[in-house]
Amino acid sequence: MKKILCVVGTRPEAIKMAPVILALKNEPWVDVRVLATAQHRHMLDQVMNFFGIDPDIDLNIMRPNQDLTTLTARLMLELDDVFLSEKPDAVLAQGDTTTVMTVALACFYHRIPFGHVEAGLRTWDMQNPFPEEMNRVIAGRLAQWHFAPTESSRQNLLREGIEDKDIVVTGNTVIDALLMTAVKDLHLDIELDDSSRLILVTSHRRENFGEPFRNICRALKTLADNNPDIQILYPVHPNPNVKDVAYEMLGTTTNIILCEPLDYAPFIAAMKKAYFIISDSGGVQEEAPALGKPVLVLRDETERPEAVDCGVVKLVGPNYERILLEAQILLDDEEAYKSMARGVSPYGDGKGSERIATVLRDYFKSKL
Ligand code: UD1
Ligand code: UDP
Repeated sequence: MKKILCVVGTRPEAIKMAPVILALKNEPWVDVRVLATAQHRHMLDQVMNFFGIDPDIDLNIMRPNQDLTTLTARLMLELDDVFLSEKPDAVLAQGDTTTVMTVALACFYHRIPFGHVEAGLRTWDMQNPFPEEMNRVIAGRLAQWHFAPTESSRQNLLREGIEDKDIVVTGNTVIDALLMTAVKDLHLDIELDDSSRLILVTSHRRENFGEPFRNICRALKTLADNNPDIQILYPVHPNPNVKDVAYEMLGTTTNIILCEPLDYAPFIAAMKKAYFIISDSGGVQEEAPALGKPVLVLRDETERPEAVDCGVVKLVGPNYERILLEAQILLDDEEAYKSMARGVSPYGDGKGSERIATVLRDYFKSKL
């Protein structure tokens, strides 16, 4: 029996690793252990509960308004203990968070093979997104297996000198999670006015903290004031740099509904209900096209160019004028709306986790 340690830290990692964990748990040759760093607490637990995955180890790392240095240092120390006691044959982690970067580094120190899920996403700009671009470059440098979601992420890895034999294009497992969830009876427990068109908003990027995020809030307020016939639903990220400003600037606008982060299934229900979405989230950029929902992305660059190239996602930056202009076009111009509301899924076909399990099975079978 081989032991594979699957690590999750934040909400999106849990969503994208859940299908991988469940696929590996179906494999007779592997003892799957799940480590939650709990870089996120409540938002991680929401997802793990939904997928029925109970972590074997929980580091309970999160502290209020944590800074990157302390988070990194605490994770490294805790991971060291876990790797010494668990002695896994391989470790898997997904994406570009501090959890993933520290896991990759701890694997290197302990000489344990590391598999990077969602490998090869790049903007080639270390400041955008910050610190994620550096996190995934480090994770990529240290990985033995690169599970790239798309051909263009494979090309990025080749450009960095990663060998072709170590890269597998799997599709993004976010689509596996979405397809597993979309078939369920989804219910959004928030009272909405059915005669209003719904705009769903999320925002949390560190590089937008401060003035850029205030611009975003100003634009949302003007959009709501100019269009009394719309409702904006905004589940607010609990990071105090976001939450405090969002409630201060948008809390009293009647057609803006602020709420706590939604559980994953109700959030999918909200995406399905939405006319369009305004977001700086990575995962939302991947899910929304598959649901046929246009997204205005609150960033100037994206490591997910595929949906932009398909014409179903548009970059508007944290820019007051551009957010207002593009949102108003989607509200007023039916042809422009329709051209962005085509259901396409450039990020995956729902079989990513199966492909990852196959690669690992073949690798470990060849070692027996
Ligand atoms: C983190 C990731 C980011 C990812 C995002 C997904 C890093 C540096 N950032 O950003 O890449 O896109 O998660 O959402 O890895 N908090 C709570 N409860 C929670 C979660 C967070 O209260 O369940 C608050 C805490 O005050 C915490 C703060 O949010 O200290 C920041 O959490 P952190 O994980 O450091 O950064 P995020 O902005 O969530
Ligand atoms: N999501 C959720 N509840 C919410 C907002 C988002 O479950 O209130 C899900 C969403 O479906 C997506 C993921 O969270 O799969 C994205 O996470 P986030 O935006 O926090 O991080 P990112 O993807 O930008 O790293």
